This record gives sequence, C-alpha cells and structure tokens, in this order.
Amino acid sequence: MWEKKPILFLLLATATILVGTIVTMVLPFAWVNTEHDRIETVTPYSALEQEGRDVYIREGCNNCHSQTIRPLVAEVLRYGEYSKSGEFVHDRPFLWGSKRTGPDLARIGGKYPDEWHYKHMDSPRAMVPKTNMPDYGWLTENSLDPDMIRRKMDVLDFPYTEDEIKALAGKNEMDAIVAYMQKLGTGIPWREAAATEIVGELENPFKGDAAAIAAGKAVYDANCAACHGDDLSGDIGPELTDMSAYDDAILYEIIYSGITDGGMPPFASLGSTKVWQLVNFLMYRE
Ligand code: HEC
Ligand code: HEC
Repeated sequence: MWEKKPILFLLLATATILVGTIVTMVLPFAWVNTEHDRIETVTPYSALEQEGRDVYIREGCNNCHSQTIRPLVAEVLRYGEYSKSGEFVHDRPFLWGSKRTGPDLARIGGKYPDEWHYKHMDSPRAMVPKTNMPDYGWLTENSLDPDMIRRKMDVLDFPYTEDEIKALAGKNEMDAIVAYMQKLGTGIPWREAAATEIVGELENPFKGDAAAIAAGKAVYDANCAACHGDDLSGDIGPELTDMSAYDDAILYEIIYSGITDGGMPPFASLGSTKVWQLVNFLMYRE
C-alpha cells in the first residue's frame, strides 16, 4: 500500500515523527520555567547557601550523590516527596546527577540537625561506620572571602545585599556546605504533608521478650548510637536512659514517625518488627 508510494510515505512518516517531537520535547520545554512551573514557596539560595553550592560543585559531591527523586513508590518511601521541576529554577547548572554511590540529597534539608552534618562531614565514619564517603574536615580551614563572593554576585547578577555579603566574614566553607544541605528540598512543605500516620491499635508484640531486646540493641547500635550515644547517654540527640515518661505505643510512634521539627529522623523504613525491637530494648532491657 503506502510503502509503494514513497512521497506519501515520506510525508506521513514526517508528520508522525513531528507529532511525537512536539508532544515529548517542544511542549515540555515551553512549560519549563514558565508561570505554570513556578512554585511560590521556592526561594533563591542565600549568599551562604550559594557558597555551599559552589563548594559542592568544586568537590564533585555530585559524582556520588544525585539530587532528584523520581516519582516511583520505592524512591518516595526512601527519600521523600518526588522532585518537581519548579524546585530547580534557581539551580544553574542543575545538579540532578546520575550516580548514587551515596544516597540522593534532594530532600536532605531538615532531615538532620546542623550538628549531625558538621560531624558527618568531618568524619562520615563516625556516624555511619561502613561509609566510603571521604572526610571533609579541612573545609573548616578555608574561610569565605566576601570580596570573591561579591565578584561572583556581580558576574552572575545575584540579588544579595551588601549586608548579606558582609555577614559571610568569619564563616568557613564547612558552614556554607551545611547551610546548603539544610536548604535542599525545603522549597515545598513536604515533611508536614508526608508525616506518616499510624493506623490501628499499637500493641507491643514482644513485650519484654529477651530475644527482641537483644535484636533491638543491634538495631540501636546501627541506627541510633551515632546521635544518642553508644551507651544511650546522649550526644546530638537527648539521652535515652530513662524512658519512664513514655509507654510502648508512644515510643513506637516517636521512632516510626520521627520528630520532624526537632531533628529526629523517622525510621518507618526499618519496618514495624525492628521498631518494636527497639521499643523493647529501650523500655525493658535489664
Ligand atoms: C565517594 C563517594 C562520595 C562522595 C565523593 C561524597 N559522598 Fe556523601 N555519602 C556517600 C555515601 C556512601 C553515603 C552514605 C553513608 C553515609 O551517610 O556516610 C553518603 C552520605 C551523605 C550524606 C547523608 C545522607 C543521608 O540521607 O543520610 C550527606 C549529607 C552527604 N553524603 C553529603 C556529601 C557532600 C556535601 C559531599 C561533597 C562535599 C559528599 N557527600 C561527597 C558517598 C560520597
Ligand atoms: C540524626 C540524629 C538522630 C538519630 C539518628 C536518631 N535520633 Fe532520636 N532524637 C534526635 C533528636 C535531635 C531528638 C530530640 C528531638 C526533640 O525532642 O525535639 C531525638 C529524640 C528521640 C526520642 C525522644 C526522647 C526525648 O527525651 O525527647 C527518642 C525516644 C528517640 N529519639 C529514639 C531514637 C531511636 C530509637 C533512634 C534509632 C532508630 C533514634 N532516635 C535515632 C536525633 C536522632
């Protein structure tokens, strides 16, 4: 039929490809960075955060970390709300990345307290024993240079005031990278929206069981000790030696959902068995 009429075939093939191109390329490009794409709550980086971003680029953090969460169930469960294009309007160049030797950082802001980041950057192994992330403690020795920053601002046409630039004096590259980490992913109020809801009755399935307490200790050492201390005596987080103010169900909820405005991350991803083992370790160990 058509394949024997070369001119008609050519025209039809071109039309088909053109429709495909318009739908998958032209329209999305026309939408990106238009009003349709803007998100009110997404604000530009502060001068300090922008400096942190430059350190991030210089150190090649994006060779090990991506900054975009795909709309897939497993990713959203692990990292949080998937990335929206409007969240990247102030990223030039964008740092989506393509390699995840370490976890995605698109929603790292607010996940940990500042103090955690300082310690983790100084020595990742102090917080996560098996990590292969390099130490960056030396960043504290590099002070920020307000003059250099002013020149960058002029070239890139960033809207920082003289006061904001002056405020950078006395800060170092470590302060900048931590500020940048705390900004990432906070342009939309997703943490409040995503707070996990626990449905049904909470009944401790292993109350006081010795095996569960022992298993809970191992889970504690791997996930909690970096912030609450090896012996529960507290460090970045409060001490957990006396849990008498809590009951099993409340403790379960704290561990499962975290304390989002207090710097305690949620541990729903451990699964309910491990969370109950933790509850038994904290409440019923000898
Ligand atoms: C060689 C690869 C590598 C490089 C380079 C690297 N990281 Fe990491 N990073 C990791 C790995 C692996 C982890 C997971 C274990 C851990 O927390 O250390 C991680 C974890 C993190 C975390 C904690 C993420 C979370 O959700 O717990 C942050 C924040 C982080 N890296 C920031 C940085 C920054 C900033 C840089 C650049 C200055 C950097 N990383 C460079 C491999 C790397
Ligand atoms: C990134 C550091 C961090 C990690 C990891 C962490 N916590 Fe916390 N945790 C905190 C901080 C900070 C608070 C205080 C939050 C607040 O009260 O605003 C806290 C509070 C708590 C509380 C409430 C105690 C109180 O007196 O208010 C419990 C219980 C708790 N954490 C248990 C755990 C358990 C169990 C784990 C491991 C699964 C864990 N935490 C892992 C930082 C952490």
